[in-house]
Amino acid sequence: MLRPPAPTGFSPAEFLERYEQDRLGTLGSAVRQHGPVVQLAEGTVLVNDPAAAQEVLRRTNTDFLVTSTIRRDEVSGVRDDPATQEWMRGRRATQRGMSPDPLREHRRWLTSAADALCRQWRTAGDIADPLLGLEQLTARSFTTYCFGSRDAGPVPARTAELLAAITPLIASPFQLPRALRRLLPRYRRSVRAQSALEDELRRALARPGSGGLVDALTASGLGTEAVVRILVSSGLASYRVPAAAVTWCLVALADHPRTAEACAHALHSAEEGSVPEYVRWTLAETLRLWPPNWLIVRTARGEQEAAGWRIPEGAAVLISPYVLHRSTATFGDDADRFRPERWQDLKPETGTYVPYGMGTRWCVGKALADVELSTLVSVLAGSLRFTVTSMATRPDVRTTLLPAGLTMSVTAR
Ligand code: HEM
Repeated sequence: MLRPPAPTGFSPAEFLERYEQDRLGTLGSAVRQHGPVVQLAEGTVLVNDPAAAQEVLRRTNTDFLVTSTIRRDEVSGVRDDPATQEWMRGRRATQRGMSPDPLREHRRWLTSAADALCRQWRTAGDIADPLLGLEQLTARSFTTYCFGSRDAGPVPARTAELLAAITPLIASPFQLPRALRRLLPRYRRSVRAQSALEDELRRALARPGSGGLVDALTASGLGTEAVVRILVSSGLASYRVPAAAVTWCLVALADHPRTAEACAHALHSAEEGSVPEYVRWTLAETLRLWPPNWLIVRTARGEQEAAGWRIPEGAAVLISPYVLHRSTATFGDDADRFRPERWQDLKPETGTYVPYGMGTRWCVGKALADVELSTLVSVLAGSLRFTVTSMATRPDVRTTLLPAGLTMSVTAR
């Protein structure tokens, strides 16, 4: 078994300091200097070898575990734990509820919501925070898809409050023991925000109406509390992440006017409701260079081996789609360049392109995300030209990969 090399020459504290200053840069340079699997610090292994990453993600729930909840509370994560079993049942029901017919219907809702956002942005001319408008739209998209004709009430607002409350917990690379964490005011705030969202979801589920994902969830035999747990996690996952992907795409279009023109041209000659191939390449390229979920974490259950690499017992295993997607071995010497045309011939090997993760716990909302991304980008890129008026040089990586300090201006096509 190969033992992952460990960088020398600085203490774990110095490593953490570097990581805090530049998380993406630190992971990228660890791989460049030490190879595809690196022991970053005692008990933390970065896996950037596609074969090993694939094994870790496929062997999740057995050998590599998801050991924390959305609020970073510890859970066992093993397959036969009742909570894991309930979660996996919920995942299967969610995926059944994301079938082509309801998604086609939902595309119509998304088109009209995106048209309204276009009108609002065109009138304003300057957009102070593009992510905000897109987040509000994707949050409503999720509740509309879930609740059918029921009134979801303030579920999107309560989701935003929970997201804001858990951000400081997720953003920190440090994990305090639970007994200590409970004393933190920010931890208590996150507990309150989660129960406020859960109450709101229970109220929405009890309102008259039918249709939507919740019907598929209840039809599969899940009780109200299990449905609420799925809606909390999925609601959080679908609030900022798809909005971040669309925002990155708009930034890329602003920076690459020829791509923007090619998308608009393809959209004008496309049949209604279909997504041109060029727009799909543009989205694939956006998710390659700016995968909103830029870090996937697992915990090794005992000592493990993955594609010949030794993973120490209990290690935190980090897989970064951001770093994997910039590998010159996979994507060529211009791996850092935004070039949608590469997707004409590109068929990434398994484990090399994972914006939605892969294996046992891959993104359960991918089908909905696909419809959201392709519809929003089609409407926005088809009607507007975007210019970046300000943006920080480094993205915000505290949780989701976000463009920091972004403002844009728009003009009509
Ligand atoms: C651009 C949009 C999206 C991207 C790039 C994305 C990406 C991801 C990634 C990388 C993971 C982690 C997979 C892993 O740990 O192996 C994940 C998990 C998850 N995603 Fe998404 N996601 C998106 C949208 C959505 C949407 C719209 C939903 C709504 C249902 C959703 C629900 C979830 C849930 C519930 C999980 C946790 C799965 C589990 O632990 O079993 N995601 N997503």
